[in-house]
Amino acid sequence: MGCAVVLACLSFLLLCALLPATDALGFTCTAQPEATCQALVGYISPNTTTLKSIQSLFGVKHLRSLLAANNLSPTTLPTATVQATDTVIIPFTCRCSNGSGISDRSPVYTVQKDDGLYYIAAAVFSYLVVYQDIQLVNRIENASLIYIGQELWIPLPCSCDQVDGEKTVHYAHVVAEGSTVEEIATEFGVLEQTLLDLNGLASPNALMAYQAFDVPLKACTSKIRNDSLDASLLVPGGTYALTANNCVKCSCNSAYNWTLQCHPLEIALSSDSSCPPMQCSDALSIGNTTTTSCNSTACSYAGYTSQNAILTDLETKSTCPAPPPSPGLSPNGNGNNHAAKTDIGMFGWNFLVTAMSILLSVQRI
Ligand SMILES: *[C@@H]1O[C@H](CO)[C@@H](O)[C@H](O)[C@H]1NC(C)=O
Ligand SMILES: *[C@@H]1O[C@H](CO)[C@@H](O)[C@H](O)[C@H]1NC(C)=O
Ligand SMILES: *[C@@H]1O[C@H](CO)[C@@H](O)[C@H](O)[C@H]1NC(C)=O
Ligand SMILES: *[C@@H]1O[C@H](CO)[C@@H](O)[C@H](O)[C@H]1NC(C)=O
Ligand SMILES: *[C@@H]1O[C@H](CO)[C@@H](O)[C@H](O)[C@H]1NC(C)=O
Ligand SMILES: *[C@@H]1O[C@H](CO)[C@@H](O)[C@H](O)[C@H]1NC(C)=O
Ligand SMILES: *[C@@H]1O[C@H](CO)[C@@H](O)[C@H](O)[C@H]1NC(C)=O
Repeated sequence: MGCAVVLACLSFLLLCALLPATDALGFTCTAQPEATCQALVGYISPNTTTLKSIQSLFGVKHLRSLLAANNLSPTTLPTATVQATDTVIIPFTCRCSNGSGISDRSPVYTVQKDDGLYYIAAAVFSYLVVYQDIQLVNRIENASLIYIGQELWIPLPCSCDQVDGEKTVHYAHVVAEGSTVEEIATEFGVLEQTLLDLNGLASPNALMAYQAFDVPLKACTSKIRNDSLDASLLVPGGTYALTANNCVKCSCNSAYNWTLQCHPLEIALSSDSSCPPMQCSDALSIGNTTTTSCNSTACSYAGYTSQNAILTDLETKSTCPAPPPSPGLSPNGNGNNHAAKTDIGMFGWNFLVTAMSILLSVQRI
């Protein structure tokens, strides 16, 4: 028995000596130890295929989360064709530990006849991982020795870190040949310097083709309460997510000032057709607003509970000008006219109204 332990230790040492350092794994992730979050990779299918087979390759549990990440209608069929060279965005759970982030024990790939580790990394998973990382997490001592039917965990790179203090979803983008940091920055609306810092590149010239590049996608802020079951929901711009047991569809769009817009899902998805009422009041449902002359009242989604109840928030934004002071009546009703005048100060109401409308037109830009 002692002998077996010694052998195990020896082979462990050998393993450590032969394999690349662990800090090469995944993307940098310094979020609290063992943080998990949602992350994305962009998969470029080498073959014309279907959504269903991509879903199965990446072990995505529900087709609807694949559709949401790609901003496709929730009614899209699993047999929908994906052309070779199309990019399909794959959602998965990221886990951070020891300073780096990788997919949480998934996807699992079963080795086929004639596969090699390099082929699996480069061809099957289109360069999203390097074969050394597959070798490392699966504790394979000799990269040439894998067997048909062996199940391999593919460690997709990811991160849970906020970027520039903003809510972020990290997206692994495989760099195309001839592409530049500037192009990637423009395509995803990110600053070049942010990309360089995040990916540890000293200069844009250090960009390499076929590397998985960490692109931080800005996510919408939401009014979801921190005690809701979906408190950690993060939706990047240009996509949507289904939440509250598929009863609510939340979209993120820069046109709405990066605030999550949630509505009841208009179509019932099979088997989850019983959705609870989603009303703030008798008159307003989630996603509805009413506007009077200068007030606007919105009913927004605030999360859901394990009792399958939907939480809502009623919020009134008032742009009503304060009523002009009527002689002899101050706002606090004590008849002290002088106090009311000093509240407005030397500029008077006209200035206040002008200032407010300037503020409003600036905000509309
Ligand atoms: C993190 O690193 C430390 C020391 O480098 C090691 O002891 C520990 O097992 C690692 N944890 C994980 C989850 O890899
Ligand atoms: C592409 O499709 C061909 C034929 O369907 C198949 O033999 C090959 O393994 C596929 N390649 C990959 C990377 O899936
Ligand atoms: C790995 O396995 C191959 C095939 O069996 C063998 O030729 C090679 O020497 C092995 N490499 C190491 C480092 O053990
Ligand atoms: C949740 O939000 C409330 C206020 O809305 C705050 O008082 C509380 O500290 C928050 N809890 C956590 C765990 O963040
Ligand atoms: C707005 O409210 C009306 C009446 O309550 C309802 O029929 C409609 O579906 C609501 N719209 C949304 C987006 O919730
Ligand atoms: C606007 O809302 C405020 C309360 O938020 C209310 O006192 C006021 O009467 C409303 N004004 C109009 C024009 O609806
Ligand atoms: C947009 O959001 C920011 C921060 O959430 C806020 O400060 C700003 O007032 C908002 N602008 C508009 C037009 O709502």
